[in-house]
Amino acid sequence: MKISRSVLSIAMALSLTFTLQSCGGEANSESTSKAPESPKKEVKEDKVVVEDNQMALGEKIYMEKCIVCHQASGEGIPGAFPPLKNSDYLLADKVRAVAQVLNGSNEAIVVNGVTYTAPMPQQVNTKKEAVAVINYVLNAWGNDGGTVTLEEVKDVVIAPRE
Ligand code: HEC
Repeated sequence: MKISRSVLSIAMALSLTFTLQSCGGEANSESTSKAPESPKKEVKEDKVVVEDNQMALGEKIYMEKCIVCHQASGEGIPGAFPPLKNSDYLLADKVRAVAQVLNGSNEAIVVNGVTYTAPMPQQVNTKKEAVAVINYVLNAWGNDGGTVTLEEVKDVVIAPRE
């Protein structure tokens, strides 16, 4: 009776120590490996979700409307349709680019040293679509053009639809 009780208490003490150790162990490994990473990861994932939605819309619009002139490669057709890939003109002014796809472009413009005179008709009807497709082209084909926001294009006036 005496022996078995002390064996029992040793066993209990051991299992308590074990439980405490394993709890402490887990808590430690979480605080050292997971805790510093998880806030960063969450922010990153949120950002990717937002960007993915807009990029997906922009890509869809590009495939439906722009590809016929500016081509799948974004290189356009020299002398007729200007390039969007590595376009100095596009990268110089993102707000202007949003206005051009909303309202069309009907002046001679110089892109990478080549003059284009053919007009581009209105392409999309909302700023949301215009911003999405410009953000897509700013980052397609190896472009590293950053992004433009709806807030930045708030002063663009949408011309009457043709
Ligand atoms: C019918 C052919 C055509 C279509 C479709 C078209 N574009 Fe254009 N795009 C042009 C032409 C032509 C110009 C040059 C306009 C000028 O000289 O004023 C131009 C100019 C541009 C420019 C400024 C010049 C540059 O190369 O950086 C951007 C940006 C642009 N287009 C984006 C788009 C986007 C985005 C779409 C689809 C939503 C689109 N275009 C659809 C023909 C087209």
